[in-house]
Amino acid sequence: MEAKKVSESKTIMTEMVMPPDTNTFGNLMGGILMKWMDVAGAICAGRHAENYVVTASVDNVSFEHPIRLGDIITLEAVVTRAFNTSIEVFIEVFIHDIVHKKNTKSNHAYFTFVALEPTSMRPTKVPEVLPITEQEENLYTGAVRRREIRLVLSGRMKPSEAIKVKEFLDLHQKK
Ligand SMILES: CC(C)(COP(=O)(O)OP(=O)(O)OC[C@H]1O[C@@H](n2cnc3c(N)ncnc32)[C@H](O)[C@@H]1OP(=O)(O)O)[C@@H](O)C(=O)NCCC(=O)NCCS
Repeated sequence: MEAKKVSESKTIMTEMVMPPDTNTFGNLMGGILMKWMDVAGAICAGRHAENYVVTASVDNVSFEHPIRLGDIITLEAVVTRAFNTSIEVFIEVFIHDIVHKKNTKSNHAYFTFVALEPTSMRPTKVPEVLPITEQEENLYTGAVRRREIRLVLSGRMKPSEAIKVKEFLDLHQKK
């Protein structure tokens, strides 16, 4: 299975905030934004895997800026790293105020998707990610630590097995 570039699966999705998407203050509901992030991430992971994917986990999502009724938002999803059957996707959300010509980053999150073989519905191997730019390299390197943290938090890994997190903490405590 040949490694694939990040650009091969990069996904940009545009949405406009409509009345049914908002809360009582006229801001986009967090759950609707998470749904759009999930869709953009699944398209990106599916393109990388060239297979069906399911969401396995979502890391911390914080909502830093309210997104208003009528705002245009874009969601940019890129693969950071693929493991055996899982793929980490980094999703950034930007608000575009087309009237005042102002773009603001609203938030970001890491999603993990798992590719499933359609007949057995069991996890199946995915191609590796080939990072090229400096940002892609940084996201690729950090993915191992983030994976360890989420596997520890979900009870799938013992804290003592989170070796890359320990190495990272040791290095930064020495500084
Ligand atoms: C995700 C799912 C396929 C994993 O199945 P499983 O039987 O536990 O399979 P495995 O133990 O072989 O794990 C498969 C991969 O999932 C990853 N994974 C499982 N749970 C995870 C979690 N909570 N966070 C991150 N990765 C996870 C494993 O690390 C493994 O990755 P790797 O192969 O790259 O090392 C299964 O739990 C599932 O189908 N969940 C429901 C998915 C879904 O419906 N999502 C939509 C929301 S309703």
